[in-house]
Amino acid sequence: MVDLRELIQKVLQAKNKLELQNLKTQFLGKNSQINQEFKKLGSLAEDERKTRAASLNNEKQKITEAINSRFKELEKSEINQKLQKDKVDVTLPARERPNGKIHPVSQVIDEISSIFSEIGFSVAEGPDVETEYNNFTALNTPEDHPARDMHDTFYLDGNKKILLRTHTSPVQIRAMLSGKPPFKIIVPGRTYRCDSDQTHAPMFHQLEGLHIDKDITMGHLKGCLDYFVKEFFEVKKLQMRFRPSHFPFTEPSAEVDIGYRLENGRIIVGEGDKWLEILGCGMVHPNVLKNAKVDPKKFQGFAFGMGIDRLAMLKYGINDLRSFFEADYRWLNYFGFDPLDVPTNYRGLSR
Ligand code: DAH
Repeated sequence: MVDLRELIQKVLQAKNKLELQNLKTQFLGKNSQINQEFKKLGSLAEDERKTRAASLNNEKQKITEAINSRFKELEKSEINQKLQKDKVDVTLPARERPNGKIHPVSQVIDEISSIFSEIGFSVAEGPDVETEYNNFTALNTPEDHPARDMHDTFYLDGNKKILLRTHTSPVQIRAMLSGKPPFKIIVPGRTYRCDSDQTHAPMFHQLEGLHIDKDITMGHLKGCLDYFVKEFFEVKKLQMRFRPSHFPFTEPSAEVDIGYRLENGRIIVGEGDKWLEILGCGMVHPNVLKNAKVDPKKFQGFAFGMGIDRLAMLKYGINDLRSFFEADYRWLNYFGFDPLDVPTNYRGLSR
């Protein structure tokens, strides 16, 4: 016989949900005593079977009720304990405002992304460690091409197949191979060349642009860069000139200069009698499109690449590139930006 009172006693004393679960299996499960009793019903005479079944069901129900009510109790005390533990002391003083600053290079990347997103460009990225193929060959720069020597490449293996990307241009290839035209992207990122002095660092930042569609022309390139440069330097008037140049991955190719003047040794961008080179650009070479599985008979477009650090130096009057990478907190405190002041075209880029 099942000692109902004893069972219920045990249930009501269960200390936690796990213990209760174990008791449930023990008292009501397949191998429980009550289940054995149920199995015996078949061998009883009909009258006796009815009364016995009714009393067994009654017992079963009582046990179930006890389990459910203990479960609710345990649940309640668990919640109470949690509330007690997670109590927030609203009388504590507010946390001090963090005094970290946004690095000018990050600020400039955010500014440039905001400017280009206004005219429909989205941001793409690629890895710093690249294949020689994406960095050079696919960009129409075969092995013996002199342009390769100018890049002072850091190779990562003896066969010169893996390298630290020397420019952000390989992301053009990656982006085109992983999607279908049209493409309208900018690519900010780190780039590397074995070079170091006041105006060169072994790691620096570039921004690539790529716009491929059915009827994109050099006129679009010019309009796009004119818009960008004025927005970036936050001036209404700005002289800009395209100088014919050569890049293996564009045809025709150009370098873009902006006008400036010197005032008390400071560069004032906009107008003046001096020119400063800020980027390279051109119409994407048909071979590059072919290598990226885009049909050059149907699609064409422009690309450009610029040095982000250089633009940051120009805009914010920083005259030594190396200071960007020295991690000097005093410098960052002076040249850095408020983390909560995210640049947008509407609210002003840099204020
Ligand atoms: N990748 C070139 C460099 O690092 C810059 C460049 C020039 C990028 C022309 C372009 C381009 O996309 O069209 O010197």
